[in-house]
Amino acid sequence: MTDQPQGEPTSATVQVPTSERHVPVMLPRILELLAPVLEAAEHPVHVDGTLGMGGHAEAVLERFPHARVVGIDRDPQAIALAGQRLERFGGRFRAHHGTYDEVAAALALHEVGEADTLLYDLGVSSLQLDEVERGFSYRQDAPLDMRMDPTTGRTAAEILNTAEHGELARILKEFGEERFAGKIASAVLREREVEPFHGSARLVELLERTVPAASQRSGGHPAKRTFQALRIEVNRELSIWSTAVNHALDHLTVGGRLAVLSYHSLEDRITKRAMADGATSSAPPDLPVELPEHAPWLRLVTRGAEKPTADEVAANRRSSSARLRVAERTRATAPISPTGSTRPTRRR
Ligand SMILES: C[S@@+](CC[C@H](N)C(=O)[O-])C[C@H]1O[C@@H](n2cnc3c(N)ncnc32)[C@H](O)[C@@H]1O
Repeated sequence: MTDQPQGEPTSATVQVPTSERHVPVMLPRILELLAPVLEAAEHPVHVDGTLGMGGHAEAVLERFPHARVVGIDRDPQAIALAGQRLERFGGRFRAHHGTYDEVAAALALHEVGEADTLLYDLGVSSLQLDEVERGFSYRQDAPLDMRMDPTTGRTAAEILNTAEHGELARILKEFGEERFAGKIASAVLREREVEPFHGSARLVELLERTVPAASQRSGGHPAKRTFQALRIEVNRELSIWSTAVNHALDHLTVGGRLAVLSYHSLEDRITKRAMADGATSSAPPDLPVELPEHAPWLRLVTRGAEKPTADEVAANRRSSSARLRVAERTRATAPISPTGSTRPTRRR
C-alpha cells in the first residue's frame, strides 16, 4: 500500500495563490477520458466529489464551456479557496460543503439533475499536507488533529488517548500495514498513562524508539505508516468511500462516466470491485440465457488502473502513487433491490 507522501510540507502557504497550492494529478488524461461525454451533452453536469483547490474543476469549466460543475468537499477551507478561484464562472459552478457520499443531496440542492460525469481525486490535498497546524505531517511538531473537516469528528490525539489496545493495533495494521502495530499500540498505551498525547513530535519520538532500527532502514520513516493509518481512521476514508463509490454510480446518467484517482491500494481495491461488479453479468452461472436485467450495466473505460507518466511523477512527486480508473454506465437499471439500490448486484 502506498499513499501520498505525508511527511513533507513544502512552504508556508498563506500568500501562495490557490492555483499553485495543489497540482491537479493526471489532468490531461482525465479531460481526455471525460471529453466524449462532456462534449456530447448539450448542458452536461460534472460532479467533482473532491473539489480541493478546484484545479480539476477549473480545467473542466474552461475546456467544456457548456458544462456546469458541482464541487463537493468536506474541508471548509478548500470550499472557500476553490469558491474564490472559480467565482469567474458564475452560475456554472456550485460548491457543496459535505462528504462525497452526499452526491444525491448535492445534486438535488443545486437542481441540476443527474451527473454526466463524476470525478473523485481521493486523499488529502497539498493544502492540507502543507498547513502544519492541521497535524497531517510528521516532519514538524503540531497538534495531532488530522481532520479534513475540522468542525466535526475525532482528532488523531483523541484516538491515541482513548482507543483500546486492540482497536489501535487494528487501525495501524489495517490502514497503515504496520508490521509493529501491536508493539506500537502497547507503547502508546504506556505513554498516555504518563501524559495524554497532544502534539505530533512526542508520537514521532515514540515511533522512532519503538520501530526496530533495521525496519527503519528498509521501510522509510518510522512515522509514515502510523500517520497514514491515523489519518484514514480520523476521516473514515475507506468506509465513506465504500458507500460513496456506489452512490456515484447510482447517480450517473446512461452514457455517463465515473473517474476515480486513488492513492493507496485499499481505496483502489474498493473502486476496482465496485466497477467490476457493474461490468460483470449478475446472471446465475447455470442460467442458459442471460436475462436483460442480469446484463452488465457498466463498461470499463480504462484497462486496469492507469498510472501517471514518468514526466508527471518527476514534476509532481505527490502524483507518484496515483491510479486512475474510469467506468461508463451503459444502461438504466430497474430498482430491484429491497435496499433501494437501482441496480443488480453480482452473485459472488
Ligand atoms: C487530492 S484533493 C483534491 C484536489 C483537487 N482535485 C484539485 O485539483 O485541487 C482531495 C480533496 O478531497 C477532500 N476529501 C477527502 N475526503 C473527502 C470526503 N469523504 N468527502 C468530501 N471531500 C473529501 C479533501 O478535503 C481534499 O480537499
